[in-house]
Amino acid sequence: MTGRVVLVGGGPGDPGLLTVAGLTALRSADVVLYDHLAPVDALAECPPGALLIDVGKIPGGRATSQQRTNELLVEHALAGRRVVRFKGGDPFVFGRGGEEAIACAEAGITVEVIPGVTSAVAAPALAGIPVTHRGVVQAFTAVSGHVPPGHPASSIDWPALASAGHTIVILMGMAHLSAICAELASHGLPTNTPAAVIADAWLPTMTTVHGDLGTIAEVVRNQGIRPPAIAVIGAVAGQPLPVSPPSHLDAAPARDTPTDELRPARSSDAGELLVLQRACWVAEAFDNPGVRIPALHESLAEVSAGLEQFETWVLRRDGRLIGSVRGARDGSDWEIGRLMVAPDLSGQGLGRMLLTHIERQAPVGVRRHWLLTGENSLRNHRLYRAAGYEALPAEDESLARVPGTLRFVKPAN
Ligand SMILES: C[S@@+](CC[C@H](N)C(=O)[O-])C[C@H]1O[C@@H](n2cnc3c(N)ncnc32)[C@H](O)[C@@H]1O
Repeated sequence: MTGRVVLVGGGPGDPGLLTVAGLTALRSADVVLYDHLAPVDALAECPPGALLIDVGKIPGGRATSQQRTNELLVEHALAGRRVVRFKGGDPFVFGRGGEEAIACAEAGITVEVIPGVTSAVAAPALAGIPVTHRGVVQAFTAVSGHVPPGHPASSIDWPALASAGHTIVILMGMAHLSAICAELASHGLPTNTPAAVIADAWLPTMTTVHGDLGTIAEVVRNQGIRPPAIAVIGAVAGQPLPVSPPSHLDAAPARDTPTDELRPARSSDAGELLVLQRACWVAEAFDNPGVRIPALHESLAEVSAGLEQFETWVLRRDGRLIGSVRGARDGSDWEIGRLMVAPDLSGQGLGRMLLTHIERQAPVGVRRHWLLTGENSLRNHRLYRAAGYEALPAEDESLARVPGTLRFVKPAN
């Protein structure tokens, strides 16, 4: 029997803005193809054994072509599986959901869509900026800034936009913000038109900066704002409403909080390392956009071959991005542990992916697995216990500097 494909919009940032229908689809998926802007923590909700495939496009990193993504959707659905295509925001707002729906329909596969909260509206809202506001503005236009004005691939009527009187919302526009603002100004939009940029909306690292059409590109540059980010240009950007930041971000680490508690890997560890979770590359890639980020499911050999590049890893930023688990082998044991961790180990998505990876790829002769996690990471604990692991205190000397870490051990069969 042919399976079906559900295109699920995950909303921006963390799973909090994922819809109930989207969550329900994840909970019954056999296969999930996800992007890195999707709220990956929600992957913890997938059934054990669900196949999770990272098809995300990370700037400077690995990318699965759209063609290949379409093929994977079709292949898995034709094999009778329930396939979820999990994306950030809404699948049909610069999400290529339309292309995927057509590819599936052409292959005779039933496609369903579960819309998501789009960052085009949510990011401004979270910064107290309504894209329409009675008495101020009656329309908004969301545009892609992935190519600059005048580029042959751009179909945006910038002169019309400059005179329309709409709130202008720009996605994927950080690289060309300066050119876009200059274009709007050259077509008559006053340079003192208020503007704001919201980065990492609904994430602990959420940042908002304000300026006007004439200054916002420089503000963004000076403040080191990086994608994903939304620019809003129009009167509403100058009158943010008195809304509080999302309360789930209150206890979150500030942007760039140093995580000195981490134990850097020692070069003497290198010979033992078998698996290095992509997190190390993610951390490196923040500072070196050229660094390639391997996916968890890439071959162990390929992952371990990259090891020599690093003698010490100092992992920064949010544990959700890091996860930071590596594997080691001694004799017939295969251990996951002695990790470098951020204090915030709430990356259930990473925990889920790691578990799947270990269970599938552990070499022959394995006697036990170790999984390490923060003591507050309750959903990971539940996940690991359900998979037959037992919690033990982490007495390993290498964890001494990582308070509150638990070790989950799976006894040999
Ligand atoms: C390929 S588009 C996908 C948009 C997505 N389908 C949506 O509806 O939000 C990626 C762009 O969305 C915006 N974006 C996505 N998530 C964001 C977030 N959490 N904070 C700010 N902007 C975000 C950024 O402009 C980013 O470059």
